[in-house]
Amino acid sequence: MLKNSTERYGLVSKLFHWSIAIGMIGLIGLGWWMVGLSYYDKWYHQGLELHRAIGMMVLFLATCFVLWKIVTPSPPLQSDLKAYEKLGAKTAHILLLLSMFTVPVTGYVISTSSGSAFTFFGLFDIPAISSVSEAIRDLAITLHFYAAYGIAIVVVIHAGAALKHQFIDKQGTLRRML
Ligand code: HEM
Repeated sequence: MLKNSTERYGLVSKLFHWSIAIGMIGLIGLGWWMVGLSYYDKWYHQGLELHRAIGMMVLFLATCFVLWKIVTPSPPLQSDLKAYEKLGAKTAHILLLLSMFTVPVTGYVISTSSGSAFTFFGLFDIPAISSVSEAIRDLAITLHFYAAYGIAIVVVIHAGAALKHQFIDKQGTLRRML
């Protein structure tokens, strides 16, 4: 089943969901590790190159995911959830969707702030749209930092809720995305 049904997510949504999730979680770890390295460490540059390229892939996948959601809407939340659980789930989903764009777009602004391009795995260059002022660059660094670590907290809550509804409440919530 490629498309979503009224009960479950289809294969395409599952592939988008898990590849974006793995990508974002991996990038939080990679980002945290790489900014701790010295500028002269060879891994600082290789790590950053990898971080930028994977981050741009996440941005591409997130765009496809949202377009796919228009083609085949997500199944509604399970009817046996309490009102506050539905509100919590919807809020987490919106925050997660927003972060899939805010984090990579601010990363792109930081990386192209001087007007220069950066490489995509050494295959081709991703050009700068425009250079930006130091104030905008600093704002992008702050947003990138808070949105990335903030969303890590939402991911933990989101995954914890899915596990609770699957294994404690036995509502089969996680199975809809597996
Ligand atoms: C898509 C998901 C992404 C996530 C979850 C993510 C996450 C992170 C994290 C956690 C850090 C470390 C922040 C710190 O501790 O100071 C970081 C730093 C950084 N990221 Fe990303 N990132 C993403 C995408 C991107 C993209 C697409 C680019 C560029 C094209 C990018 C460029 C950077 C740069 C340049 C830094 C270093 C910022 C500094 O010097 O303070 N990131 N990222």
